[in-house]
Amino acid sequence: MQTPSTMRALLQTSYRGPQDLGLMTDAPVPNPGPGEVLIRVTAAGLNFLDLSRSRGEAGDWSPRPPYVAGIEGAGEVVAVGEGVTSPGPGAHVIGVGANGGAFAEYMVLAAAGAVPVPSGWGDEQAVGLCVSWPAALAALRPFGDLKGGQTVLIHAAAGGTGQAAVTMAKHYGATVIGTASPGKHDLLRTLGADHVIDSRGADIAAEVLQLTGGAGVDLVLESAGGANFQASLAAAKRVTGKVVVFGVAGGAATLTNWDLVYRHQIQLIGLNLGTLIRSAPQIFGEVMAEMFGLLATGVLGPGRPTTYPLADGPRALADLEARATVGKLALLP
Ligand SMILES: NC(=O)c1ccc[n+]([C@@H]2O[C@H](COP(=O)([O-])OP(=O)(O)OC[C@H]3O[C@@H](n4cnc5c(N)ncnc54)[C@H](OP(=O)(O)O)[C@@H]3O)[C@@H](O)[C@H]2O)c1
Repeated sequence: MQTPSTMRALLQTSYRGPQDLGLMTDAPVPNPGPGEVLIRVTAAGLNFLDLSRSRGEAGDWSPRPPYVAGIEGAGEVVAVGEGVTSPGPGAHVIGVGANGGAFAEYMVLAAAGAVPVPSGWGDEQAVGLCVSWPAALAALRPFGDLKGGQTVLIHAAAGGTGQAAVTMAKHYGATVIGTASPGKHDLLRTLGADHVIDSRGADIAAEVLQLTGGAGVDLVLESAGGANFQASLAAAKRVTGKVVVFGVAGGAATLTNWDLVYRHQIQLIGLNLGTLIRSAPQIFGEVMAEMFGLLATGVLGPGRPTTYPLADGPRALADLEARATVGKLALLP
């Protein structure tokens, strides 16, 4: 099939959030440069980062509008740039675009970073493979050093990243305490969470301390931010407890050197997948290898994202912002 010169794409035109994300029908189809491939996108992963970018709240990861939104795309390779021997045309891959552009009918990926869609899986079932799942695994293992028998507190546990984290933490033999909005608690228990705490109304630190006999947890996957950040610090075991901070959904929170010395004597670790890929590719490679091991043994199976048509991307992002979603979300161009 001939690649057209224009395509449908969702363009973010301001930093005012999903309300200024709109469908255009004549966006130029990008050309793959040296070392790149062009894919016909069949499913794009929605990530909280898309929301943060739409509000200009993602630091260096916030492009200046206007830009074609979306970072994670899956689909079929339709053209390759100079020097690319693999993946070739016809291969189904998923990856993260260096310049975004996933909420569109076509996007460019670096050939070296394009991950094959596991055999037997549809493209949309692979959504999460390049962002949510490796982020969850990195937080649990190389960053969080989780071991069997330990207890982990996972915020936003019913979300795209959180569900993967719950599944993997249970696989590694941990006791899981998950937080989520009330309507998501049954789902979390079905996933295997041992204890569930209301992320909106509960005194999270007090409940965790009660569940752990006053000791606190060995590891916190902290992505909630806002007031919950303090709860995460208070819920971690003194001295050995680790808090891996990888999201700020509820907003920025402050911590002083005094807090670390006199209030929260815990181990605080920052995680950003983009920085991990750039600055420590070997560790990222180990995370991906471990993740593919979990796929091969069936610990992680094909995903079942909630899907929206491409044109409904703004609504999907608004739902994500309203905390109304569970699991992974995908846009279908
Ligand atoms: N650093 C990295 O490299 C990296 C990579 C992947 C993901 N992340 C982070 O991981 C987190 C989860 O990402 P995701 O894409 O999988 O999203 P998600 O978990 O599917 O959705 C976000 C969830 O966060 C919870 N939340 C708590 N406070 C919130 C608030 N004030 N506003 C909106 N949501 C709030 C909500 O769950 P409840 O209502 O159930 O509490 C909401 O459903 C995000 O913070 C994201 O930035 C970071």
